[in-house]
Amino acid sequence: MKHPGLINMISNHTSDKFKWSEKNILKIKKIIDNYPKGKQKSAVLPILDIAQRQNQGWLSKNAIEEVARTLSMSIIRVMEVATFYSMFNLHPVGKNFIQICRTTPCWLCGSNKLLDVAKKVTGCQLGETSQDNKFTLVEVECLGACCNAPMVQINDNYYEDLDETSFNDILKNLKNGEKVKLGSQIGRQSSEPKKEN
Ligand code: FES
Repeated sequence: MKHPGLINMISNHTSDKFKWSEKNILKIKKIIDNYPKGKQKSAVLPILDIAQRQNQGWLSKNAIEEVARTLSMSIIRVMEVATFYSMFNLHPVGKNFIQICRTTPCWLCGSNKLLDVAKKVTGCQLGETSQDNKFTLVEVECLGACCNAPMVQINDNYYEDLDETSFNDILKNLKNGEKVKLGSQIGRQSSEPKKEN
């Protein structure tokens, strides 16, 4: 499986020089202040996350170097962290980063069918970004919402209790820039028992 966060090499994709936004400088200062003086390196995960969010969902070489400068770390140490966690993308991703859970509970409830729907609507194979840059499609392991399987994460949102129809509608609405329903698609609160038909 090609996952933008699992390709163990930083993209050669050229991007503008990465510079923290003013808003993020304040956020970073607050995070670093949570750690004892001189231990700012411990903040590397949240700071990488901020860098990824500022950089449209992926970590460029410039962004990683800026994180290293900010935390007084060697670049290789920051690279080691960024290449270890699959949540960090080392290549550009589309506007909607689709992560389909493929672990057993979701698989038993039809995640394969959801993958087929996603391929059809986005035109992407696994690990690819669509030509219109609206979607990147990957499979991931359990996202911790097994009670509401099958589920998919798109950017920061979970979509649960999916079937082919509801997932197809969600993707089409995202494609057209329309509103989508988050969470359970059958109206469950959290992971309460499903209502009997
Ligand atoms: S198996 Fe899909 S969320 Fe756990």
